[in-house]
Amino acid sequence: MEKFVVRGGRRLSGEVDVHGAKNSALPLLAATILCGSQSVLHNCPSLSDVDAACMILDYLGCGISREENSVVVDTSNLEHFEVPDTLMREMRSSIVFLGAIIARLGRCRLCFPGGCELGPRPIDLHLSALRQMGIDIREEHGYLDCSVSARGIQGTKIVLSFPSVGATENIMLAAVLAKGDTVIVNAAREPEIIDLAQYLNKCGARILGAGGGTIVIHGVRNLHGCEHTVIPDRIVTVTYLCMAAITGGEIIVNRCIPSHFDAVTPVLEQMGCRMNVYPDSIYLNASRRLRGVKTIRTLPYPGFPTDAQALIMAVSTVAEGTSVFVENIFESRYKHIGELARMGADIKVEGKVAIVDGVEKLYGADVEATDLRGGASLLIAGLGAEGITRVTNIGHIDRGYDGLEKTLREIGADIQREKEGLNGSCSS
Ligand code: UD1
Repeated sequence: MEKFVVRGGRRLSGEVDVHGAKNSALPLLAATILCGSQSVLHNCPSLSDVDAACMILDYLGCGISREENSVVVDTSNLEHFEVPDTLMREMRSSIVFLGAIIARLGRCRLCFPGGCELGPRPIDLHLSALRQMGIDIREEHGYLDCSVSARGIQGTKIVLSFPSVGATENIMLAAVLAKGDTVIVNAAREPEIIDLAQYLNKCGARILGAGGGTIVIHGVRNLHGCEHTVIPDRIVTVTYLCMAAITGGEIIVNRCIPSHFDAVTPVLEQMGCRMNVYPDSIYLNASRRLRGVKTIRTLPYPGFPTDAQALIMAVSTVAEGTSVFVENIFESRYKHIGELARMGADIKVEGKVAIVDGVEKLYGADVEATDLRGGASLLIAGLGAEGITRVTNIGHIDRGYDGLEKTLREIGADIQREKEGLNGSCSS
């Protein structure tokens, strides 16, 4: 077990590059199954969640290797249609393998993803959509046993009651090789959906409208592998911006796509950061005392992302005035608040609403990462706090940030990764 030890109060300054998006890489790795040949994914981050997806592919019988940031997947052999429980539990989003495996093999067995750090993670929308496409799904003793009749998977019109990202991805994966056309109404519009569609289209799929509310998928007979570059991680970009902002710093984040976090940039500006937006980089300068934000409501894309809620909240703890957050996507996405309070933050929670009264200063404390972005919010707070913050349970943070401490040290942060149990001092 490891922890991060951060000595706060150092002004961050410099340039960083952003790695590929975890939330794109995972469905893309699942999608390689449909091709039955070799695909190369460039800009694929080195993260524990990506490793888990690679282990699933390896278990299924695929050839998989990594060369720096590129992952080569050969899916010509697919020997298994089951995903072992241990691998399913490793990563809740592994449910996206369902659509890919069933489309390729006509059979799939995996365990229910169950709940996670963010609360219940229902998959009713996934299952109902796949059933409408003619997939027989039996739910038994926590397992999903899925099969397809001789007629195969049938394209159809699916109306989602909520634009679920995971459900949209599973439907797309099941639909590309289906008979006929599939129309997804109220589809998720996240950039990761567009990335998945672009990869699949390069492989020979016929997907129209990804990024809009209606996606049309004309089923094709087969796909072939291709080379594809994973889009930059918009949430990692926002994390670096928040880290610089809380330290009164100045940063250029390179190799990002600012239009992917259009809902976040105005919030940082409203807080008093000076920002310049370029096509593939963004500049932030936070030389003034920051101000609180008006109400932030998390919403499906292009609204304010749930993944950025904890990050902006950490910055708002030391901003002048009151900031209000309304979390609409996940039930249990305020677990970081108790930990931020240990550092001196003044936050009240009432159901979906969190009210932050900005304090002059946060103080370093021993805190625990409770989930991925909640953990990142503690690092943001620790970088801005006076004294030393020790963040434990950082396996959550490693799920989403590649080379984090190295990148942060390059722009002036004092952060170390240590074995838990040691109370070692920070480097200077
Ligand atoms: C969600 C985020 C996504 C983010 C990802 C990682 C949204 C809309 N989605 O995607 O942007 O990158 O987490 O943190 O912000 N739901 C159901 N039934 C289902 C599926 C989902 O009720 O079958 C509900 C979930 O409980 C949740 C909401 O829909 O309240 C969002 O789910 P979904 O978009 O599917 O979640 P992820 O794909 O994990």
